[in-house]
Amino acid sequence: MITIPQIRATQAELFRDAQAAALDQLERHALRFGTGFPDDTATDGVYRLRQAPGFPRGANVGWTTGFWTGMGWLAYELCGRGVFRQWAQSHHASFAARVAQRTDLDHHDLGFLYGPSVAAFRVTGEEHHRALALEAAQVLAERFLPAAGVIQAWGRIGDRADQRDQGRIIIDTLMNLPLLHWATAQTHEPRYGDAARMHLARSLALLLRPDGSSAHSCHIDLDSGAALRISTVQGHGSDSCWARGQAWGVYGLALNHRHAPGQGALEAACRMADHLLARLPDDGVCQWDLALDWRGGEQRDSSASAIAVCGLLELAAQLPPGARGQHYRERALHMLQGLAAGYAAPPGPGRGLLLHGVYSWPEARGVDEANLWGDYYFLEALARVNAGWRSYWSGGAAPQHGHAAA
Ligand code: GLY
Repeated sequence: MITIPQIRATQAELFRDAQAAALDQLERHALRFGTGFPDDTATDGVYRLRQAPGFPRGANVGWTTGFWTGMGWLAYELCGRGVFRQWAQSHHASFAARVAQRTDLDHHDLGFLYGPSVAAFRVTGEEHHRALALEAAQVLAERFLPAAGVIQAWGRIGDRADQRDQGRIIIDTLMNLPLLHWATAQTHEPRYGDAARMHLARSLALLLRPDGSSAHSCHIDLDSGAALRISTVQGHGSDSCWARGQAWGVYGLALNHRHAPGQGALEAACRMADHLLARLPDDGVCQWDLALDWRGGEQRDSSASAIAVCGLLELAAQLPPGARGQHYRERALHMLQGLAAGYAAPPGPGRGLLLHGVYSWPEARGVDEANLWGDYYFLEALARVNAGWRSYWSGGAAPQHGHAAA
């Protein structure tokens, strides 16, 4: 746990104020959106009810709605205000219907979507949250391809005509593996954790480069398991280092190490962290692809930095006490300072928490906007430093309300 004396007084005040402002803004969101979900990103600075072809406005589809609900649970953990608990609880029905009907779940992001159910179980102890997260783990486990030893990121499993997505893995999936480890811990069925360990080993071998950078994606032959080609969707190029992917890697590896020690995940997380930290601008908020030189005025991606802050704090917590962990902790605090001082959005109806995020630069999607994951990890980072919040994937108890500085 990070205690206030390790944080400089000016930072401590900045972080407390940022958290208080975030909680007030989230309370406005709860009243404004209710059970509806906003789009992945803001449009012209404002979140609007989600629009997806074939679904009603505000429907629970896509890969990011869990961050919205997750902010509700996190806010409740931080301050105990009933409005947050009721808001997050009110989303349970749409998550339950979604998994029962397998609505828009042909992808790997089950951990992002159903992590909040694990959070809800930790906070409330209510069995239906646990049961829902276990159903989601089952859906994720069905994406494991035994011959290739990986979890396919996108697309229907077994659709061999789908050249774009069959056998494709991405760095982001490391963040969804903890759901599988959690399911094994809950059920004592090894198959979930076994799949996660195999996927981790193949990701380390195929997506990490010797210089500590990462590739976004790799196609794998479904029968032989041979690696076919490296590529990217959201990065600058197949040989570049997409910043958000790198941040997912740092955080995902640190989380995986908790459950799968001895696979080299902790050392790999350090190498990825070092690569990212060596390429940061002075304010600690990274450009959207780390292969690009920020001095050229490249667009920043605040969301990648918010994820990286949480990843570095998680990494620091898992390293043995000493200078290395302290280094990552200090760099994380510097990055969070950059976000809180220069990227926190002014309050206003429907406004996000964190300005200047990027969803996908190559697709000109959500560029220079707030986005749901950026907001979520900004709040998580503040919760970690202000209240000693620990990830629900760590199995730790929720902090008691009142420990938060809000
Ligand atoms: N798949 C998660 C992302 O786009 O970052």
